[in-house]
Amino acid sequence: MEQQTLQDTIKWWQDARFGMFIHWGTYAMAARHEWIKNYEQINDEDYQKYFDFFDPDLFDPKAWAAIAKRAGMKYFVITAKHHEGFCLWDSKFTDYKATNAPCQKDLLKEVVAAFRAEGIKVGFYYSLIDWHHSEFPVDRIHPQRESEEARTKNKDKDMSKYAKYMRDQVTELLTDFGHIDILWFDFSYPGEDGKGHEDWESEKLMKTIRSLQPHVLVNNRLDLDVEPDFQTPEQYTPSAGLKKKDGSPMPWEGCQTFSGSWGYFRDETSWKSPEMLIQMLVNHVSRGGNLLMNVGPTARGEFDYRAIAALETYGDWMKYNSRSIYGCEAAPESFVAPEDCRYTYNPETNRLYLHFLAWPFKAIHLTGLAGKVKYAQLLNDASEILMREGVSDVHSGLNEKSPEKALTLELPIIKPRVAVPVIELFLK
Ligand code: GLC
Repeated sequence: MEQQTLQDTIKWWQDARFGMFIHWGTYAMAARHEWIKNYEQINDEDYQKYFDFFDPDLFDPKAWAAIAKRAGMKYFVITAKHHEGFCLWDSKFTDYKATNAPCQKDLLKEVVAAFRAEGIKVGFYYSLIDWHHSEFPVDRIHPQRESEEARTKNKDKDMSKYAKYMRDQVTELLTDFGHIDILWFDFSYPGEDGKGHEDWESEKLMKTIRSLQPHVLVNNRLDLDVEPDFQTPEQYTPSAGLKKKDGSPMPWEGCQTFSGSWGYFRDETSWKSPEMLIQMLVNHVSRGGNLLMNVGPTARGEFDYRAIAALETYGDWMKYNSRSIYGCEAAPESFVAPEDCRYTYNPETNRLYLHFLAWPFKAIHLTGLAGKVKYAQLLNDASEILMREGVSDVHSGLNEKSPEKALTLELPIIKPRVAVPVIELFLK
């Protein structure tokens, strides 16, 4: 088989459009944000209880993978290590890992195997930040930032040892788990009392990565000068596609949460509604982006009921509408979507997808599409949508709505029973 290139990965990944982010670590036990060590300025000694009692007895990665697959997700990115420093795999370079916690399992290995078995591709999130490693200096976002004592110990720390530790661990991740498609580093905060590419030795790290798996996609958070493989807007949706310096489209992936935090947060009440969840996916793809939707499993090793409900929302919608997502991109600029609507476009099949964030009454006028559409149907049930061109109804107010070039679609009065209805337009 031919070697997969970076371009191949980008193509596959952009066609896939929808992935699952998984944030899992010992912070799931605190169940009040994955930054808890920082927010509450907890020292290593007091944080140790989360390691000593970490025992996800209901851990069933096959169940996770089945839910992800049903939701329509084609890849996943899991926190091999988050800022707390705890490693989900049996790394040779630390004792602070799942195999030494009460569960005594290489959790990462099992998750990777289960997702692969469902045909879901693999990505690793790796935290550049490490609030546990002995050589990682206390800085402005460190849990011990206000401790004079901890600060004075900085002089005995050697950041280059930590940078080497990261290269060693990333080498493990790219050697012991087979073919990896995505590496997701998090994150740089250069400047005073912060950390950037010189601290991480990002250039060297990139060399290591490219020498091991040249095709792997690497995100934008290493503080490098060169343009990244993709950008990662976090918890916001850009209002238009992103661009490279030369003006060409920049691959991007928005990362979003169901309820605000990334790790499991028991008492959060800000869970997104089904409409918001679907609209978010549609908004990302209609602007040429991917959506990486996050789940924070509980410390028993399960997706909690609210996450499952949200994932089922995706599954229910994707079952009927995934054709407007996979292989799709922003529509050509000459097609301007009507109010409350979003277009996506599949260049291979030459089909345009019209998504309704609000359901209009009786008809919709599509500017610039007269003479360009062969056939139109509702995607969820393949029922024909009748079309007419030009002004045929003097009472419809079409004169204000560029009647000449508009294509009018006749819609059912009642909104179809899908969170976001889609009409599939077969272009000539
Ligand atoms: C942030 C946070 C973090 C989360 C990440 C996901 O940078 O530090 O907790 O993992 O975003 O994008």
